[in-house]
Amino acid sequence: MSDDPGRADSDETDPQDAIDAVASDRVHDHSAGDGEGIPFVGAGPGDPRLLTVAGRDLLADADLVVHAGSLVNSELLEEYCADAETVSSIGKDLEELVPLMRDAYEAGDTVVRLHSGDPAVYGAALEQMDALEHEGVPTYIVPGVTSAFAASATMRTQLTLNEVANHVAFTRPQGKTLTEEEDHISEFVGMGDVTTCIYLGTHAVSETMERLLEDGHDPETPVAAVYHASWPDEEVIEGTIETIGDRVEEAGYRASAMIIIGDAVGGEDYERSFLYGGWANRGSDSDSQEADD
Ligand SMILES: C[S@@+](CC[C@H](N)C(=O)[O-])C[C@H]1O[C@@H](n2cnc3c(N)ncnc32)[C@H](O)[C@@H]1O
Repeated sequence: MSDDPGRADSDETDPQDAIDAVASDRVHDHSAGDGEGIPFVGAGPGDPRLLTVAGRDLLADADLVVHAGSLVNSELLEEYCADAETVSSIGKDLEELVPLMRDAYEAGDTVVRLHSGDPAVYGAALEQMDALEHEGVPTYIVPGVTSAFAASATMRTQLTLNEVANHVAFTRPQGKTLTEEEDHISEFVGMGDVTTCIYLGTHAVSETMERLLEDGHDPETPVAAVYHASWPDEEVIEGTIETIGDRVEEAGYRASAMIIIGDAVGGEDYERSFLYGGWANRGSDSDSQEADD
C-alpha cells in the first residue's frame, strides 16, 4: 500500500493513472479477513458452502456487496448477504465501480467486493484495488476456490498426478483479449506432462481443438469440459481433442465451463507417490525435500 495514495480530486481520475502509480510495497500480511479497508473476496466456484469462513464472516458484516453477477450463485447472496445491499458489477466500468465502492466506504459503510472463484485468477481485481488505493481506500484479498479446483473435484481426479502430470497451466484462448501469439495452449499441451485448464473458453472449444489438431497434437488426448462445477446443474462432458468440440456444441454450452486437457483428466495410469512410499522414511532425504500432500 502506498504511504501517500495521492487522493484524487474528482471521480474523473483515469484508472490507468492508479495502475501506473502503484507503489512498490505491494505486499500485505493479511489474507483471511483481518485487513483494513475493502476486502476483495473469492466467492468460490458456485456452491455457497465453498465460500471460505473468512469470506462468510466478512459478508455477514457487510452493508454493500458488489458482486460478479451470475458467476456468483444467488443462493450464496441470499444466504450470506441478507442484510446487505447487493449490486452486480456486470456492465459497470471502473469509472463507475470505483466511486461506488469508495463513496460507500467513506460514508462509513462496510463494503465487500465479491469475485467469482478466486479474485487472483482472471478476476481483474487488481485494477480496482489499485484505483481504490489511489483514492485513499485500502484494499486486500481474501482468496477463494478457483473453478479449476472445483472441476477437478467434480471429476474426482487430481490436476497433478505422479508420472502423469507434473504441472498445471491456468490459461485462456485467443480472442478479444489475447492475440494468436499470446495463446499458449498448444505449447502447454505439447509439453505432455501439463494439465491445461482453460478459463473463458467455452464458446471456442471447437476452434481451440482445431488449432491443436493443426499443430499435430494427438487427437486421442483426453479433454473434459466441466460446466458449472459445484452448482446443482453441473455437468461433465468427456472426450478427446478430436471429439470434445462437437460434444460441447451438442450440449449447447457457450459459457461457464472449465476445459481441461491432459492425461490427468482420466485419473489413470499414475504411479504411487513417494509420500506414502519408502521415500517418506528415507531420513535425511525426506528432510531436505518438501513432501507432496
Ligand atoms: C472471468 S473468469 C473468472 C474465474 C474465477 N476468478 C475463478 O477463479 O474461477 C470466468 C471463467 O471461469 C470459469 N468458471 C467460473 N466458474 C466456473 C464453474 N463453476 N465451473 C466451471 N468453470 C467455471 C469459466 O471458464 C468462465 O468462463
